[in-house]
Amino acid sequence: MTSGSNDRYLTFALGKGRLANKTLSLLEQMGITCEEMKDKASRKLIFVNEELKLKFFLAKGSDVPTYVEYGAADIGVIGKDTILEENRRVYEVLDLGFGKCRMCVCGPESARELLQHHEMIRVASKYPNIAKDYFYNKKHQTVDIIKLNGSVELGPIVGLSDVIVDIVETGSTLKENGLVVLEEICPLSARMIVNQVSMQMESERIKHLIYSLRELCAKEATV
Ligand code: PRP
Repeated sequence: MTSGSNDRYLTFALGKGRLANKTLSLLEQMGITCEEMKDKASRKLIFVNEELKLKFFLAKGSDVPTYVEYGAADIGVIGKDTILEENRRVYEVLDLGFGKCRMCVCGPESARELLQHHEMIRVASKYPNIAKDYFYNKKHQTVDIIKLNGSVELGPIVGLSDVIVDIVETGSTLKENGLVVLEEICPLSARMIVNQVSMQMESERIKHLIYSLRELCAKEATV
């Protein structure tokens, strides 16, 4: 394979849902389209733009860093939460600036005290690695982490856990369930990731893509 060869396809793995839709609309503004993908009735998993030598596939969000690490995709677009949780060997090259939210420790107001005295508490989360890193390495608090797969806010409500580590976007899920943000772990947004070998082999095409997307995102941010 030669560097920058034109006959090699560049493959994008996109996390299914809002992130993929927003990414496709950004790419469209850059003249990168994939008509096939717009057919909602289609059950196809992989789409090709023959002219631009691009392939796209939609994957479960948490699998996107895996596809990119192993080179099954050259490029991925995924939330910073997934990057932190999966901790794969990929390059994070661009903050796309959309999908902004925060990773937080949340719970009932009464749990605030439990976070201040290094007590042994139960933490429910879809993000056990992020929760572990925060409590063990940053707060030096030993906690019991319970992995859940969704509707994590239920944890403190039904007595499964004292607090949760979860994404807060508008805050309405917390509010409607009588919970509050107790501590903020980090800000999150959509990021572009690149396979480490592809970054060397296809450096020109990928860098061009990064620069164009960066410009477009900066323009969108000022609108
Ligand atoms: C996410 C997150 C919170 C909610 C936060 O859940 O886990 O539950 O969104 O958004 P808000 O601050 O705007 O209310 P998601 O919709 O992904 O579903 P899940 O419960 O299956 O995780």
